[in-house]
Amino acid sequence: MSATNKDLFDRCRAFKRHKVAQEYGVYPFFRALDDSEGSRVMIEGKPRIMLGSNNYLGLTHHPEVIAAAKAALDRFGTGCTGSRMLNGTLNLHNQLEDELATFLGKEAVLLWSTGFMSNSGSVGALCTRKDMIFADREDHASLIDGFVLSGAKLVRFKHNNMDDLERKLEFHKDFKGGKLLAVDGVYSMTGEVAPVDKIVALGKKYGCRILVDEAHAIGTIGPQGRGASAHFGMSDHVDLISGTFSKSFASMGGFIGCPQVVKDYLMHNSRQFMYTASFTPSVAATVLAALRIMRAQPELVEQCRANALWMRTELEKMGYNCLESNTAVVPIVIGQVEQMLWFNKRIFEEGIFANPVLPPAVPSNACLVRTSYMATHNRADLQEALDIFEKVGHELGAIGPNKALMADHWVKMSETMAI
Ligand SMILES: Cc1ncc(COP(=O)(O)O)c(C=O)c1O
Repeated sequence: MSATNKDLFDRCRAFKRHKVAQEYGVYPFFRALDDSEGSRVMIEGKPRIMLGSNNYLGLTHHPEVIAAAKAALDRFGTGCTGSRMLNGTLNLHNQLEDELATFLGKEAVLLWSTGFMSNSGSVGALCTRKDMIFADREDHASLIDGFVLSGAKLVRFKHNNMDDLERKLEFHKDFKGGKLLAVDGVYSMTGEVAPVDKIVALGKKYGCRILVDEAHAIGTIGPQGRGASAHFGMSDHVDLISGTFSKSFASMGGFIGCPQVVKDYLMHNSRQFMYTASFTPSVAATVLAALRIMRAQPELVEQCRANALWMRTELEKMGYNCLESNTAVVPIVIGQVEQMLWFNKRIFEEGIFANPVLPPAVPSNACLVRTSYMATHNRADLQEALDIFEKVGHELGAIGPNKALMADHWVKMSETMAI
């Protein structure tokens, strides 16, 4: 190491945020599951109700899905060991592309090894520095990476705010390059739905191509769980429908639904597609089986929605603020970072696994615990979770007459925890 150069690792040594939370025993991340039945998991020797997955339809443990994955493993082996372009295309990949295109109402589908890559790789290849991207401020990180990769001019509008979007579209109406308008169909942390009908109307008026990331919308909203675009009857008008297989599809991988001409272009131009191995045979078979179940059993989508709706109603009755969501994600707004981490630690001790959401994903005074629901949660699981939320909420002053407690309770911790 030269004496004059800075050591890149200095910033790693200076990074302390996680350590403070660990010292206070409230660090919530990287908890290992020892066992999983889907809606219940074993962590640190204790069963917990799983309210922190994206396994909305519970298909990770569906017997037909598991059987399909095992059959593919026996037939093709454990991996594809290469890019789709070369040795990594199985008939299962092609079949999945065809069936998913029909499901989405799109001319074609292209598969990617993760949803992150489908967003970053498609936007990164389609847009260039001569183009302009209009994006909701809360778009997923994978889209943001795509925007950065493309070099396009980025214009961000206030979250779900159509007036702000229109102002910005109007301001740039004479821009001569290509325009993309990109949103999430359902926002992952709050469960809010994008107004896709209004987004399409504005996008078309100002000459934009439209991309909707349906990662949290497929399997949870729209007819047969076809997502937010379908929910608003807009599938034909949304040019690019992206998504992941790591949520309702019970596995991993991603996709773009698009015109054939766009698929052909991306197959031969996107580095994230061309220079990575395709997903494994068992993944392809899992997703295909999950898609077929989703089509054949729309009642699973309804069950997931009903569970989430019941929880939201009961939590709100207790006095929790669950924002405006009406999907499978039910956020519980707690307050400052320290308060939320303490709340999350207590519900975990009592038997709930949920996801803490910290800034910058949320404002620093409105940190939340993200809960999400599955078609396979039963009422006994959910009632047990409600009892815990009620007990811990009163104990910490998150609900009920002791609300002031919440303010005092964590002062000491706040002073030292600069999270
Ligand atoms: C909105 C959204 N888009 C894309 C992704 C990326 O999906 P994947 O897990 O397949 O990389 C996620 C996953 O967290 C997501 O929440």
